[in-house]
Amino acid sequence: MNILLSGCNGRMGQAVVRQAAEAGMKIIAGYDMNAVKLNDFPVYDNFEAIAEAADLVIDFSHISATPQVLEYCRAKKLPLVLCTTGIKDELEAKVVATAADIPIFKSFNMSLGISLLQALVRQAAKVLGGAYDIEVIEKHHNQKVDAPSGTALMIADAAASCLDFQAEYTYDRTQEHKKRDRKEIGIHAVRGGTIVGEHEAMFIGPNEIISISHSAQSRELFANGAIKAAGFILDKKPGIYNMDDLVSSLSR
Ligand SMILES: NC(=O)c1ccc[n+]([C@@H]2O[C@H](COP(=O)([O-])OP(=O)(O)OC[C@H]3O[C@@H](n4cnc5c(N)ncnc54)[C@H](O)[C@@H]3O)[C@@H](O)[C@H]2O)c1
Repeated sequence: MNILLSGCNGRMGQAVVRQAAEAGMKIIAGYDMNAVKLNDFPVYDNFEAIAEAADLVIDFSHISATPQVLEYCRAKKLPLVLCTTGIKDELEAKVVATAADIPIFKSFNMSLGISLLQALVRQAAKVLGGAYDIEVIEKHHNQKVDAPSGTALMIADAAASCLDFQAEYTYDRTQEHKKRDRKEIGIHAVRGGTIVGEHEAMFIGPNEIISISHSAQSRELFANGAIKAAGFILDKKPGIYNMDDLVSSLSR
């Protein structure tokens, strides 16, 4: 499989370069606003200049690049593994519209373990949700620009989907002086040092705490997930696919 790698010169881009080599997949070109050649493929800072014919695009860049990435994939009819985080509102609508024409694999967390954690959170929320307070804590390195992480929101959404009331997400308790409402799901971001990514869902009840957590120990984990997603999506019909689709295809 020939891959066009968007965001190729970033931390995740370089992890994908290493993982693709291990998986025997070829990166034939890169796209990055910082168009320096770091590896054995050409790097472009605009899509129009790309001459190489890819089978698929993997994107780990920034939301400022997402519209161009979507346009390119649609024009060339290329499947897209979209890993950039922070996509919402209008941009999310653009992703959905583009998925009418091409397959898009989209996940804010490409680790199989996080997909399992979400399944466990759904189960815990079904059993404990009404009676226990739910809080999600995420921790990342000090270079991360968006907060809370997309994964923390995915975990909160997993819990919320199993409650028999409409949950309210609370990110900040400094502005209102009131007791915690039972419908709240608190979401908190810690930033510091070189933490790759830690997520914890806490179900806090009378006299006990159930905590479900995941710790990513290296970026290679996400790069490896993106490569697996690429293999999964290559021959799929247009539409949006996610980690649950990949995990269920593996567990069949
Ligand atoms: N889905 C996942 O599992 C997962 C895991 C880790 C990181 N991420 C996300 O992937 C993205 C990249 O993370 P990173 O740690 O590699 O960041 P990074 O800053 O190290 O790398 C981003 C790269 O994209 C390039 N870039 C930025 N804006 C661009 C634009 N408009 N056009 C072209 N190139 C542009 C930068 O020059 C840089 O080389 C972030 O959104 C991050 O949150 C997702």
